[in-house]
Amino acid sequence: MHTLLLQSLFPLLLITSFLLINVELSLSQYEQHTNCNEDINCGGGISLSYPFWGVNRANYCGLPGFEVKCVDNAPMINMSNINYRILKTNSSAPSVTVARQDYWQTICPQTYENTNINFSLFNYTSGLTNLNFYYGCSTSIPGLNSSSQSCDTNNDNVTYATRSPPSDPVSNGICTTGVSIPVFTTAAVALEANRTTIEEALDGGFELGLQIDNGQCNTCVGSGGTCGLNTTTGGFSCFCLDQAYASVCNATVPGALGMSVPSLVILL
Ligand SMILES: *[C@@H]1O[C@H](CO)[C@@H](O)[C@H](O)[C@H]1NC(C)=O
Ligand SMILES: *[C@@H]1O[C@H](CO)[C@@H](O)[C@H](O)[C@H]1NC(C)=O
Ligand SMILES: *[C@@H]1O[C@H](CO)[C@@H](O)[C@H](O)[C@H]1NC(C)=O
Ligand SMILES: *[C@@H]1O[C@H](CO)[C@@H](O)[C@H](O)[C@H]1NC(C)=O
Ligand SMILES: *[C@@H]1O[C@H](CO)[C@@H](O)[C@H](O)[C@H]1NC(C)=O
Ligand SMILES: *[C@@H]1O[C@H](CO)[C@@H](O)[C@H](O)[C@H]1NC(C)=O
Ligand SMILES: *[C@@H]1O[C@H](CO)[C@@H](O)[C@H](O)[C@H]1NC(C)=O
Ligand SMILES: *[C@@H]1O[C@H](CO)[C@@H](O)[C@H](O)[C@H]1NC(C)=O
Ligand SMILES: *[C@@H]1O[C@H](CO)[C@@H](O)[C@H](O)[C@H]1NC(C)=O
Repeated sequence: MHTLLLQSLFPLLLITSFLLINVELSLSQYEQHTNCNEDINCGGGISLSYPFWGVNRANYCGLPGFEVKCVDNAPMINMSNINYRILKTNSSAPSVTVARQDYWQTICPQTYENTNINFSLFNYTSGLTNLNFYYGCSTSIPGLNSSSQSCDTNNDNVTYATRSPPSDPVSNGICTTGVSIPVFTTAAVALEANRTTIEEALDGGFELGLQIDNGQCNTCVGSGGTCGLNTTTGGFSCFCLDQAYASVCNATVPGALGMSVPSLVILL
């Protein structure tokens, strides 16, 4: 009777222990795989994945310097104390279109900071033109076709142009501060022709190329993995269903399955 019961239960026991071992072995890797498979979505319709991390993506899902935070339902990346609002992404370039959050819908921010891109993370794409802003100018700037308006934020005024003056008005004491912000050249041309406003030109942002090896991630994703970081080595990591690999998922049989068969034999 006893043996019979065991015998009838045996297939069930086998399956149960098999599943338990399987789950235990693969859980930690599976977690990395699924965590990094999720995009960042701040609610504004933009989805961000590798090399970006932050919000719901752990630090091992991206690269250092590409941390994103959600502010007012928009994804932001903080560089040299300025928040850049991510407006658009192109994963095949790969690139992002960003606008300075402190200049969002205004040309009179609280403080005047120049654009300072970290060139180990990004580079400028072609087709951009700098807009030059000068604050606290005592006179009009010689040799510059510019527009001016007052800023009530700092009891100041701002003069801006799509070109640079023959000599720097800050170093010759005409203005107190200068700020340069790139925009798409098409927006700068439209601004010169009065077809757009300065705020609209700025809010269209500018494109930054990502200084990453995109092929590495594409290969990993193509093999069924999700891209991430080896936090120990600082190198690339491809999180697969069975384990983390240095570049690509290349186990033909899921590794957890392959490993649980011998351990099951030992157990019995
Ligand atoms: C640029 O970003 C890298 C990666 O986060 C960081 O190590 C480096 O300090 C940054 N450089 C500057 C000038 O902020
Ligand atoms: C950017 O990050 C720095 C350092 O973490 C922080 O002091 C600063 O307030 C941040 N800037 C913005 C605009 O969030
Ligand atoms: C994305 O970038 C690629 C490569 O630079 C380009 O060919 C493509 O037109 C871009 N897509 C969009 C929607 O801008
Ligand atoms: C930006 O960097 C990428 C990758 O390093 C390179 O292919 C591209 O030519 C660079 N773009 C510019 C405008 O320098
Ligand atoms: C800016 O303000 C100062 C002081 O009010 C004034 O003297 C100057 O003419 C103004 N500059 C421009 C370009 O409006
Ligand atoms: C200055 O800009 C206006 C339009 O804002 C344009 O009509 C005029 O031709 C420009 N002058 C020069 C010298 O570029
Ligand atoms: C642009 O608009 C401003 C004010 O509306 C006007 O003074 C200026 O002449 C216009 N410039 C061109 C090129 O139409
Ligand atoms: C990180 O790299 C080390 C050394 O190559 C390796 O032993 C480890 O499994 C890797 N971890 C991840 C999560 O990729
Ligand atoms: C991945 O595949 C290559 C070539 O088929 C093989 O040499 C290597 O040992 C495999 N790596 C792992 C971790 O299975």
